[in-house]
Amino acid sequence: MAQALKPGLVFYLDGNLGAGKTTLTRGVLRGLGYAGKVKSPTYTLVELYAISKLKLYHFDLYRFNDPREWEEAGFREYFNTDSICLVEWPEKAGEWLPKPDVIVALAIVNEARTAVLTAETEAGKQWISQLQHISPA
Ligand SMILES: Nc1ncnc2c1ncn2[C@@H]1O[C@H](COP(=O)(O)OP(=O)(O)OP(=O)(O)O)[C@@H](O)[C@H]1O
Ligand SMILES: [Mg+2]
Repeated sequence: MAQALKPGLVFYLDGNLGAGKTTLTRGVLRGLGYAGKVKSPTYTLVELYAISKLKLYHFDLYRFNDPREWEEAGFREYFNTDSICLVEWPEKAGEWLPKPDVIVALAIVNEARTAVLTAETEAGKQWISQLQHISPA
């Protein structure tokens, strides 16, 4: 996923508790060359990772219970053409949250996970079609 990432993309990470949303985000960051700690933003709601010029915002909105806080916290500004946003529990922010380019639906299958990628925009569609030309590392 990291190899084809373009600034501006927004991902919703769907899946139950423990489905692997944070683990997937960590994998994307590793793929981008980030070697530091990647912890779940359960209490902080968002973590920023600056990887050279790219900004990656990792949201976990599980504890977000007042969608009006969205504007007050200034989160809208994080969704811009220079940043990539990955959002766990997007449904907790209601309609305030910008729409995704891609929905990643994770599910637990025994010890492993499945991921179903759905494009919601033209940019998302292009990203998915590029993935098909990249062989796994
Ligand atoms: N692809 C995977 N294969 C095997 N185990 C995995 C995989 N992805 C995650 N796990 C394991 O599942 C557990 C939960 O993962 P993780 O914290 O990423 O889930 P989450 O979807 O972010 O959960 P939450 O909704 O609580 O934030 C961890 O112990 C992790 O190691
Ligand atoms: Mg998580």
